[in-house]
Amino acid sequence: MQKFGAWQDDFYAKGAYNETSRYPFTFAELEQRAENAMNPLIFGYVRGGAGDETTQGRNVAGLRAYGLVPRTLRDRANRDLSTELLGRRLQAPIFICPVGVLGAVYPKGDLEIAQMCADLGIAGMYSTLSEATIEEIAEARGDSLGIFQLYPSSDRELTDSFVRRAEAAGFDGLAVTLDAGSLGYRPRDLSHGFTPMRRGTCLANYTSDPRFLELAGVTSKDDLGALRAGRVWSTLFSDPHFTWDNVAHIREMTSLPIVLKGICDPEDARRAKDAGVDVIACSNHGGRQANGGIPAIEHLAAIVDAVDGLPVTFDSGIRDGVDILRAVALGATAVGIGRPYVYGLAIGGREGAAHVVRALLAEADLTMAIDCYAKLSELAVIRVPGY
Ligand SMILES: Cc1cc2nc3c(=O)[nH]c(=O)nc-3n(C[C@H](O)[C@H](O)[C@H](O)COP(=O)(O)O)c2cc1C
Repeated sequence: MQKFGAWQDDFYAKGAYNETSRYPFTFAELEQRAENAMNPLIFGYVRGGAGDETTQGRNVAGLRAYGLVPRTLRDRANRDLSTELLGRRLQAPIFICPVGVLGAVYPKGDLEIAQMCADLGIAGMYSTLSEATIEEIAEARGDSLGIFQLYPSSDRELTDSFVRRAEAAGFDGLAVTLDAGSLGYRPRDLSHGFTPMRRGTCLANYTSDPRFLELAGVTSKDDLGALRAGRVWSTLFSDPHFTWDNVAHIREMTSLPIVLKGICDPEDARRAKDAGVDVIACSNHGGRQANGGIPAIEHLAAIVDAVDGLPVTFDSGIRDGVDILRAVALGATAVGIGRPYVYGLAIGGREGAAHVVRALLAEADLTMAIDCYAKLSELAVIRVPGY
């Protein structure tokens, strides 16, 4: 059992010699530091959400509407934060969310994050949109649990090619993102006229794929300039015709476990279970895709209920270690970390991202210690009245 909380001791030990941390300990400071460090277009892309960002804000506030019940006088010396996902025991109930801009946030950012997952032994979901290829990321993640996140393309052959490549590269699962049939309406990016892919970045999986080159009308990647790659990509990135039939097709063509990412309705969750998927990922994409929704966490318990034992992961709005516990208490098997680790990457590469992850786990573990929870299954939350 890892003692995640012990991580904080080192800061006090070093502080006794007047040495303080290079990295922050709160999300607010982390975001501020990232903003100072990042290209404003890329910061806007990471920080921003859909519309006036109401849903994005609600995601965070909605989690805080749940309070852990402090228990007492139970033995909590050894705390077990482990969980099982896709047949593997994870030491911590978290995974790294797919974020399609890591290679633009930090040099070789996708590989830095995959290596961080390998170093810390945590699970990662890796985006279709990356500066490193599926194959390079699969290798960099080492023995850690790796799930390839698929954006189904309007070109079905290209989609199939990505699935085959993920399987051949040795990924442990495939997460099909369902809430990106179109790019969301994002005022920050619109005012900057900026999306990384349209400028030809984070397209390594496309430009390394023979089918994409064929669609672009070139025989080699070298004949494809960045802007042309971005233009072709924009014509086939998303597939608004993708429906349950296409999920059935993917289910048939791969033996990889399938995660459906972006399910918020119990009826959809039940249908996903019937379609033979392995994990439901309850998420509203961090409020980046559709605005006007309720906090993502408000969907979780009903989905867990609806699928009766099928693992359900949660992401959207997790900002600290207590949020991880809140989501687990409401039924999540594992919890996805999004923007916090991206900001860590921005300010310190793999080391900065690792700091963020370790801080989240330390806070989760220490909170369990104080509130006398030795196991995740014991966690209990109540809704703060009138919050
Ligand atoms: C900059 C950025 C890029 C993202 N790219 C992807 C992606 O490529 N695929 C995907 O399924 N989700 C993507 N997401 C959504 C995340 O996987 C996750 O659902 C979200 O970040 C959770 O919300 P939070 O960051 O507010 O906690 C992205 C999120 C951000 C912030």
